Amino acid sequence: MAERIGILVGWEQSFPEAFITRANKVPGIVAELAKIGGTPEKYESPYRVLIDRISQEVKHYRFYLKAAALGGAFVINDPFWWSADDKFFGYSLAAQLKCAIPRTVMLPQKDYIPAIDKQRSLRNLEFPLNWEGIVDHVRFPAILKPADGGGWRDVTVVRTPGELLRAYDASGLNVMTLQEFIDFDHYIRCICIGQDRILQIEYNPKLIGPTGLRGRYIFRDEEEWLPKDLHDRIVQDSITINKALQYDMNSVEFAIKDGVPYAIDFTNPAPDMHIEHLGERYFDIAVDWMVEFAVKAAKEGYRTRDRYHWAKLLGDAAK
Ligand SMILES: Nc1ncnc2c1ncn2[C@@H]1O[C@H](COP(=O)(O)OP(=O)(O)O)[C@@H](O)[C@H]1O
Ligand SMILES: [Mg+2]
Repeated sequence: MAERIGILVGWEQSFPEAFITRANKVPGIVAELAKIGGTPEKYESPYRVLIDRISQEVKHYRFYLKAAALGGAFVINDPFWWSADDKFFGYSLAAQLKCAIPRTVMLPQKDYIPAIDKQRSLRNLEFPLNWEGIVDHVRFPAILKPADGGGWRDVTVVRTPGELLRAYDASGLNVMTLQEFIDFDHYIRCICIGQDRILQIEYNPKLIGPTGLRGRYIFRDEEEWLPKDLHDRIVQDSITINKALQYDMNSVEFAIKDGVPYAIDFTNPAPDMHIEHLGERYFDIAVDWMVEFAVKAAKEGYRTRDRYHWAKLLGDAAK
């Protein structure tokens, strides 16, 4: 019997199409857009592997993917961890794992939902905040950005206490981090598949890309143009981060300053894979790696649930 691989997508075209076409060429594999309807409580996943490109925007898919994981599927990326993860935890973990991380402080929210009475409900909060201590740690210039952000939303460069307070006062319900601004010499984005395959590409966040989004990849003729030790460190730090976060599909960004690669943005479980952005050469590599990894996971019977304590309670009943 063929092993089924399902992919969940939004309006994105190039990546899922290429993935399905190439995966279907592998003997013993059937790849398709996953079809999802009502899900019964004892669900056995018809898919050995599910690739999730969209559950961050479709809540029902995230819950479905957890049910599918319980039902034996291997989900790329792990829906349990994806739901739990935030950027600040990532910075803290990566820093403990000896990756270079900009000095960062997470701040209490500026505003709260109406059910929170600011006079009575926030007794755990230090007030007023010790802004001096926070700024002493991070220093200016700094970046104020959401601790669970994405897509460049609400990212502000602040250079003075006045600018910081203005941006913080406008941050509303967001949980913000204040982070040392790295005035980088180069910026690298790595597309990462299966935790340890790392495609290092130069990227310029200041340019506008071919479809009007911020940021553009820079295509060079030679693959490894950075000094070898820096190139190798970026590969190694990317692997460390992916293994720590158990992301099998991720993009990891580094701002390089004075030869140090600072990890900036590395919790991107559905990284941009558009052919228009990656260019044909990198797009082909990313698709091929994803096909190889998903096929391996399907044939070797990887299961997301094996990562979790509750799976041990299932015993033979759920085998
Ligand atoms: N600490 C920093 N130093 C310099 N630039 C930064 C820093 N943090 C973010 N940026 C810039 O802001 C952009 C968006 O921030 P990022 O952390 O990648 O959030 P998002 O998830 O919204 O993409 C980055 O691509 C980078 O250009
Ligand atoms: Mg980013």
